[in-house]
Amino acid sequence: MIVESIVTTIDADGRVNCAPMGVEWGDEVIVLKPFLETATYRNVVATEAAVVNLIDDARVFAQAAISNPEYPTKPAVKVRGVVLADGCSWRELTIRSIDSTPPRSRIEMAVVHRGVTREFIGFNRARHAVLEAAIYATRVHLLSREFIDGEMARLQVIVDKTAGPEEREAMALLTEHIRSTRGSHSP
Ligand SMILES: Cc1cc2nc3c(=O)[nH]c(=O)nc-3n(C[C@H](O)[C@H](O)[C@H](O)COP(=O)(O)O)c2cc1C
Repeated sequence: MIVESIVTTIDADGRVNCAPMGVEWGDEVIVLKPFLETATYRNVVATEAAVVNLIDDARVFAQAAISNPEYPTKPAVKVRGVVLADGCSWRELTIRSIDSTPPRSRIEMAVVHRGVTREFIGFNRARHAVLEAAIYATRVHLLSREFIDGEMARLQVIVDKTAGPEEREAMALLTEHIRSTRGSHSP
């Protein structure tokens, strides 16, 4: 099963990077599949470590998908990395094996530590809609305008029906990003 997470990594100079990543979930092993051009890929290769954060704030998925936001963090316990301070729980990972065949790597990582910060509140349709919209926001250059517009209209209905203020804010951010990215891209 793929679990949508926020992967935190650090570069050689200690700078933190946050990115939404769908990871193959397991108790002992978690597989990351970052594209080779991502900072996440470069940082995992450089440090041999990553932290997978589970978080219910859809704004973090929206912001980290389209920019490089900074969030409060605390040091990881067993690896060179950081944990999102406002996340629900996390897994600390070290590399077991890496396949860097383009365009997307496959990095098998051992779970060496796990922790819980706060409760994870159950499913919310608007949060899931924001995740889908965040994926489209990272693929404006690959997908047709008609397809993205149709999907965003469908997802906006779900947000309008079931969101709280945070999910509405996240959806508005993504809608604006898609609008402003066009012009230079969009097939
Ligand atoms: C829910 C979600 C899941 C994603 N999963 C992946 C993934 O598995 N691999 C990947 O390379 N990019 C994935 N992306 C896109 C990256 O988050 C995006 O390209 C990001 O800018 C990469 O950031 P980085 O260069 O800071 O690592 C995903 C985006 C979203 C919104």
